[in-house]
Amino acid sequence: MRPKVLVSRKVFDEALALLGKHFEVESNQRDVPFTPVQLVKKLQGKPGAIVLLTDIIDERLLAQCPELKVVCNVAVGYNNIDVKAATRRGVMVCNTPGVLDDTTADFAWTLLLAAARRIVESDTFFRTGKWKGWGLMQFTGYDVHHKTLGVIGLGRIGKGVARRAKGFDMRVIYTDVQRADEATEREYGVMYVDKRTLLRESDFVSLHIPLFPETRHYLSDPEFALMKKTAILVNAARGPIVDEKALVKALKDGKIAGAGLDVYEKEPKCERALISMKNVVLAPHTASASIETRTKMAMMAVQNCIAGVNGQRPPNLVNPEVLAR
Ligand code: GLV
Repeated sequence: MRPKVLVSRKVFDEALALLGKHFEVESNQRDVPFTPVQLVKKLQGKPGAIVLLTDIIDERLLAQCPELKVVCNVAVGYNNIDVKAATRRGVMVCNTPGVLDDTTADFAWTLLLAAARRIVESDTFFRTGKWKGWGLMQFTGYDVHHKTLGVIGLGRIGKGVARRAKGFDMRVIYTDVQRADEATEREYGVMYVDKRTLLRESDFVSLHIPLFPETRHYLSDPEFALMKKTAILVNAARGPIVDEKALVKALKDGKIAGAGLDVYEKEPKCERALISMKNVVLAPHTASASIETRTKMAMMAVQNCIAGVNGQRPPNLVNPEVLAR
């Protein structure tokens, strides 16, 4: 009998076809996340799982699914998975790094430009028949070129965002837990500064750090107080990195000028006040959502699953210590 694997949400047909060559596949084609109870039931008796960010893989679930060998997230981030608990139980956790960096960097820029140049607001204005002809004062936004971009987190995606800023003749500053080497700084045309300096000097602040307990609410009231009143925040990283209530307050009080958001503290919800703010662009966590990239992500997850279930080391193993047990 072939091993069984679960695909917890809708994925591309080619990913299912490849999985089907190796396993007996059960997939959730409704694309509505399973409840935690349903997910446990579906995973029982299966050594492999392909899951999305909406699936919470925690100690409680793992304890009830002892056959599970490998959990393959179709995402680079894996804050939906309790990796420590998985490691304790000998379960491999995999992600999809590398393939979505450029697509996500493109999208951070999309949010930045859309927020700076008031694209969503003007689109709505046009569509609702309000435009009565050209006006000098209409929809004046903020210039992007020759301004200062602050990149928080100079990892693969942060670097992509910085590189794109060259085309806009921007000054790019960055902060990170570790300063990059000189050659990297030169290659990307970036200057290292501390967090406070970055917040004080940036016209655009773009977040590219992972969500860890220590990066939760990395931006809150004190940080917004440091930012320029004309600054725009971009978050295509993880929602809880920003204290969403503090963000709403900062926007309401004019402490910052606007925001472009792809992620939220309690997805799929956001602070209600954000919905009616015209100076905020809201996307439904789609930064990596190009057909090409999402297909690559799904295929990577499948390769991780094939290797893990067959007792080999998956190419994108997050917790290699699990193999040393
Ligand atoms: C998406 O948010 C991802 O982590 O890939």
